[in-house]
Amino acid sequence: MSAVEIRPARPEEYAGAGAIVVAAYRALPGAPTGELGGYAAELADVAGRAAGAEVLVAADGTALLGCVTFVRDPSSPLAEHLWPDEAAIRMLGVDPAAQGRGVGAALVDACVTRARAAGRAAVFLHSTPWMAAAHRLYERAGFQRTPGRDWQPLPEVPLLAFRLALVGPGPAGGGVPGAGGDMSVSEICLRDT
Ligand SMILES: CC(C)(COP(=O)(O)OP(=O)(O)OC[C@H]1O[C@@H](n2cnc3c(N)ncnc32)[C@H](O)[C@@H]1OP(=O)(O)O)[C@@H](O)C(=O)NCCC(=O)NCCS
Repeated sequence: MSAVEIRPARPEEYAGAGAIVVAAYRALPGAPTGELGGYAAELADVAGRAAGAEVLVAADGTALLGCVTFVRDPSSPLAEHLWPDEAAIRMLGVDPAAQGRGVGAALVDACVTRARAAGRAAVFLHSTPWMAAAHRLYERAGFQRTPGRDWQPLPEVPLLAFRLALVGPGPAGGGVPGAGGDMSVSEICLRDT
């Protein structure tokens, strides 16, 4: 088991965290094209995201393993189609070499914890049909498909909506399955590969 810390990205880590998100999206099987086009620059721009939202990283010592952007409310420039009482998760990516160990679940758990602490009613996100591992992760975390909020910004990019309602005390242990249950999100023992 290794201990992984989930914490805000430091400015000196922005480039590395952005590169991980780009690599994660590039490695997706089933994407319509191998290239991300202009979206790669957007995914890489952690500094831009950090100016308008909270960018979290998963770090094992000095090694970055993953990155996610937590959008607290619709006032953020990173918010897309958010209802007034919702928070959002955006641009989640885990280094392909570190996938399958619970890093993604830990990053999602950290966002859900922040949303609860901020008193948000739900966490909302969009995902593409070819992000199968992400869908499994979201559904295990309690997110539900909300097809009425699907969106198609480009003909080749259909976006599927997922929403986690934050009512009541949350799941037993307050955590996302696979992320260490009731362990602190700041230090999570991940599954061995
Ligand atoms: C989605 C993503 C962040 C998940 O990261 P992760 O660290 O692998 O997540 P976890 O280890 O917590 O597990 C997620 C699920 O996918 C499975 N999985 C992920 N990568 C895997 C791999 N390489 N091989 C086998 N299973 C894998 C896990 O076993 C788990 O499923 P399970 O809980 O049913 O066992 C990662 O796959 C990724 O970066 N994908 C590309 C970008 C993306 O799709 N982002 C979502 C944007 S909405």
